Amino acid sequence: MDTLKLNYEDIRLIVPQMSYMDSYRAAYEEYGRRGVEDFAYPKVASRRNAAAYLKRLENFRRGIDIPKGYVPSSGFWLVDGRHYLGSGDVRHYLTDNLRKLGGNIGYSINPLFWRRGLGTLQLQLLLKEAKKLHITKPVITCFDENTPSAKIIEKNGGVLIKKINNRFRGQDRLTRIYEIDLTQQC
Ligand SMILES: CC(C)(COP(=O)(O)OP(=O)(O)OC[C@H]1O[C@@H](n2cnc3c(N)ncnc32)[C@H](O)[C@@H]1OP(=O)(O)O)[C@@H](O)C(=O)NCCC(=O)NCCS
Repeated sequence: MDTLKLNYEDIRLIVPQMSYMDSYRAAYEEYGRRGVEDFAYPKVASRRNAAAYLKRLENFRRGIDIPKGYVPSSGFWLVDGRHYLGSGDVRHYLTDNLRKLGGNIGYSINPLFWRRGLGTLQLQLLLKEAKKLHITKPVITCFDENTPSAKIIEKNGGVLIKKINNRFRGQDRLTRIYEIDLTQQC
């Protein structure tokens, strides 16, 4: 069986769950191998302890034990019934810091499945989740040179509001700040 063949008929967002944990971990290792920047936010420690990891995500969703400086956030995984394909987080509200970097929605796709349109689809589905949380104008940010991410945002209706500089991990990073008006979308 071709393990990289996707079941396009069954692609959907789910609340992270144990049955995809092996596939999720494999994707995470793939990020490490490729040196992909980790944009996961909230940072959920102890990924090795799967049960604790899922519990913390659940707490973030329910606004329980949120560490100082963080906000409640709903985490999702994109799956096709067999594979973990990607992750997305919808932050329930913004802080001054999140307005500059991070925004309301963050996402990543398993590198094994890049360039198949999944990033674009995942953001489309995450926007529906944002709408359910009554977020009407989500802010989405990406580094200026992250062309795939900028394309994903723009294809989902993102309007570039401004570019700002962020100091990130010791470096100046030009950052695009987008907004998407969900009141215009059904
Ligand atoms: C950004 C990311 C989610 C894109 O996922 P993806 O599934 O490859 O995205 P898509 O297939 O929907 O591609 C979106 C667009 O970017 C283009 N693209 C994808 N990878 C590209 C690359 N390496 N170079 C140039 N363009 C690229 C695609 O061709 C597509 O453009 P098109 O519609 O004009 O053809 C993925 O690269 C990722 O997980 N990166 C690390 C985490 C990250 O950067 N998250 C975003 C934080 S702001």
